[in-house]
Formats: sequence, C-alpha cells, structure tokens
Amino acid sequence: MPDYQTGFANHHATEAIPGALPIGRNSPQHVPFGLYAEQLSGTAFTAPRAENRRAWLYRLRPTANHPAFVPYEGASQLKSAPFTDTPPSPNRLRWDPLPWPDAPTDWVDGLVTYGGNGDVGTGTGVAIHLYAADADMTDRVFFSADGEIVIVPQEGRLSIDTEQGRIDIAPLHLAVIPRGVRFRVALPDGRARGYVLENYGALLRLPDLGPIGANGLANPRDVETPVAWFEDIDAPHQVIQKYQGGLWATTLDHSPFDVVAWHGNLAPYRYDLTCFCTINTVSFDHPDPSIFTVLTSPSDTPGTANVDVVIFPPRWMVAEDTFRPPWFHRNVMSEFMGLIHGAYDAKEGGFAPGGASLHNQMNGHGPDRASYDKAVAADLAPVKITDTMAFMFETRFPVRPTRWATETPTMQLDYDGVWTGFAKAHLP
Ligand SMILES: [Fe+2]
Repeated sequence: MPDYQTGFANHHATEAIPGALPIGRNSPQHVPFGLYAEQLSGTAFTAPRAENRRAWLYRLRPTANHPAFVPYEGASQLKSAPFTDTPPSPNRLRWDPLPWPDAPTDWVDGLVTYGGNGDVGTGTGVAIHLYAADADMTDRVFFSADGEIVIVPQEGRLSIDTEQGRIDIAPLHLAVIPRGVRFRVALPDGRARGYVLENYGALLRLPDLGPIGANGLANPRDVETPVAWFEDIDAPHQVIQKYQGGLWATTLDHSPFDVVAWHGNLAPYRYDLTCFCTINTVSFDHPDPSIFTVLTSPSDTPGTANVDVVIFPPRWMVAEDTFRPPWFHRNVMSEFMGLIHGAYDAKEGGFAPGGASLHNQMNGHGPDRASYDKAVAADLAPVKITDTMAFMFETRFPVRPTRWATETPTMQLDYDGVWTGFAKAHLP
C-alpha cells in the first residue's frame, strides 16, 4: 500500500532512501549518492509566491538524457483543442457508457476525447476524455505536456505509478497528475473505465470559501500526495508524450521512475470524494451547484473559472417550499457531466454510470419530465439522497465535441425527448 502525505500543495519533503535529499540547498555541488537535481516548474519562475508551484527531483539520471521523440501511432482518438473537425453543436448531447475494448487496450491507448475548448497552444480551456481499458501499461509511461490530468474512475481501481510516488485510486476518488509528470497505470481489477479532464489553464486548486468560512467542501488535510518511490530498472521503457495535441514516443534504456527523493509543492495527489463536506440550504431554494466545487482552475476573469470540478454527492434534502432537484436553467458556462455510480436526481433514466452529458452555453436544460413530476408531487419531509455520485466539469467556454463523439453509436439520438410533454402552465 502506498504511503501518503496530507495537505493541498504543501511543501513536502520525502526520500525513498535516507540521506538522498540534499539539506539546506536545492542544487548542491555534490548531490547525495551522485543523484541528479532537476527542477520541475508548474508555474512561471516569477509567479507570485502564493501561486508558485515547483518541485525539486533527485534522480538516478537526468530527464534530459533521452533520444529524440518520434510520432506515436496509438491512442488515435486522443485529441486536443481547438476541436474543428465537426461544427460546434448547440444541441444537448448525452452518451451511453463507453464500450469495453475489443482487443487488449491499456489506459493510454484506451483514451477517447469527447470534446473540449480553448486552445492547447495558448494555455486556455480543457479537453475531456473517457477511458476504457483492460490491460496494464507495462514498460511504458505517459505524460501530457499540454495540461494537468484529472482522473475520475467510474469502474475498476487504478494503480498509478508516477515519478513522485505511487497512488492507488478507486471509484469515488480522483487523482491529479501535474503537467509533465510521467506516470503508468495498472488495473488491479483487470479492467477500468472512467473520465479524464485535461486542464490547459491555471493549476487546479481548492476554491475560496468566502462566507462559508475556514472549513468545508474539500478540506485540505484530506488531499493525499505520495511519498517518494523509485525503481532501478535497466530495461527499455517507452515514454509517450502528448505535446501540442500530437502524440510522440521515445524509448529509454531504463525506467523513468528513478526519482529517489523530492521536495516541493508540485506533485500528484488524490482525493477521496466521500470526504467532501457537503454544504446546502437549510431553509429554502438551493444554492447554485458551485457550492459543490471540489477543485477550480481560475481564469484571468475573476470568478469565471477555466474549469471547475464539481460533484453531486449523497446529501440531505431539507428545503421547505422548494423544488428540490436542479432547476431548469440556461448557463453562460458549459457543463459536461458524468455519473460515477447510482442515479442523478435530475434524471430518472438514460443517464447511466459511465455515461456522459453535455449542456453547452445558453442551451436550456434541467430535470427530465419524470423527475419534474416526482419533485412537484413530493412530500417535502427531510430525505437523504444516497447511493449517488455525479460530477460536472463546468467551463467558461462552450465544449466543442469531437467528430468521434458526435458519430459514435453510444450518442443518444433521442435525448431532446426527455424535455417533451410538459403541460402548459395555467393562467387564472
Ligand atoms: Fe446545468
């Protein structure tokens, strides 16, 4: 079982071999054991101190020691913004779960891009991928130079080996891998399916709490970062890099997981979604779903996120004289949703675990007819919504679907039908 250090973006210091971590300076003339010091920057050198994220890695060989990358032919549906291969659709879209692969497929080759926004070249926007895999990544690793990677498993555990340590996650966890950090995914359950957010923008962080106060939502001490771990293997390892939307590969003669010690505040982390301190109304109405934000990537417009990672966890519903499910709305932000397990309280059917939906900027959506009828007829006694975990990637720009996403047979062609049949209101 991996060991973890707690806290969000803490300045951790960890060594897999006692004495490996230099004391008192980052780059001494002689690093212990002859290790190579290497800085990994997640923000500009000159970012303000509160924003500045970097780590110092001490490794058996410098990362720079690699042959040239050449184009990689796998993961053919892993794409980057801008997505221009099909016109942006204003339609509300929904998909059935991603099918399992026909032939053995590992995590990286099992990635399929559904859409995104912004531009990978200018560091704005996101890409949204799903994965379905049934093979371990062996002797090869992946990293994105284009953004940080958020992994939201829906089925099957993942054992993620990274340059900075090992992370185990299962459905109801998420993991975040910083831009550039190499990692390898194994599947202890034999197969796994889930969602990936690739964030081209500012690093994700815990949201400000405002009048909520000093506590609540995702508490920092529940965020877990692995301790240093390494393997000393002199055998070929393929390194696959996503760079400006293209995929490239090179082969090292050793494992890239050779970081014996590191310190800093830029590292992979995991978070158990069941630790989320859920806040909602105790009177009437309900707050906007931003009250369920786990992580946010701010943009240069205050309060307008490049992307928010939002969950819809189990919770008590106690509001009086209130339509309790999510209301009908049109949103200047765009919403990509997935379901980890259970049912979502605005959709009685059709939104399955492993499925997905996309409601883009200014296009009306809300509860389906069955959920609406149930909610207006409900006895408003306190009730606990249990056995559910949906999530949303909410982003400031419309999500442009890929051609694959608009042509896959898993796209539900009858989705608009869930909002038909509403009786006209009666005027006096
Ligand atoms: Fe919405």
